Amino acid sequence: MRVINPCRISLLLAFIGLLTACGDESKHPPERATAASAMPTESALAQVYDTSCKLCHANPASGAPLTGDDLAWRPRIAQGADTLLDHTINGYNGMPPMGLCMQCSEEQFLALISFMSGQQQ
Ligand code: HEC
Repeated sequence: MRVINPCRISLLLAFIGLLTACGDESKHPPERATAASAMPTESALAQVYDTSCKLCHANPASGAPLTGDDLAWRPRIAQGADTLLDHTINGYNGMPPMGLCMQCSEEQFLALISFMSGQQQ
């Protein structure tokens, strides 16, 4: 009877895993790269964005609509600016109240929403 060497099997599985990982890499939509590097032009706004919204809105695993991802933002923009501001201040599902920026003003939230959703103010 032939005994199958378990080391061989795990090697093979690791190899298949590597192949799949490489395949996934090339399928990343371009907006992920955009979300990772996009920054508001105004420096005070860039600073709050960098330490709050960006943690989730540039992270595909968070479930947040990514900065600059038109398709993800379109239905949200359609709700109207008031609803988006309300959801930002009071929270909405996985979106924490104030987006973790406790010192942000309403104007800053509106500017951040415009920036992330691709509607430049
Ligand atoms: C801890 C993670 C996290 C942080 C930090 C965060 N968000 Fe979000 N945000 C989310 C998630 C997740 C959603 C999607 C919620 C849903 O649709 O279920 C979301 C959705 C939103 C929406 C869309 C709400 C809607 O009605 O569709 C807006 C606007 C928004 N975030 C603004 C901001 C702003 C502005 C900041 C920074 C001040 C921020 N977020 C920081 C996780 C985060």
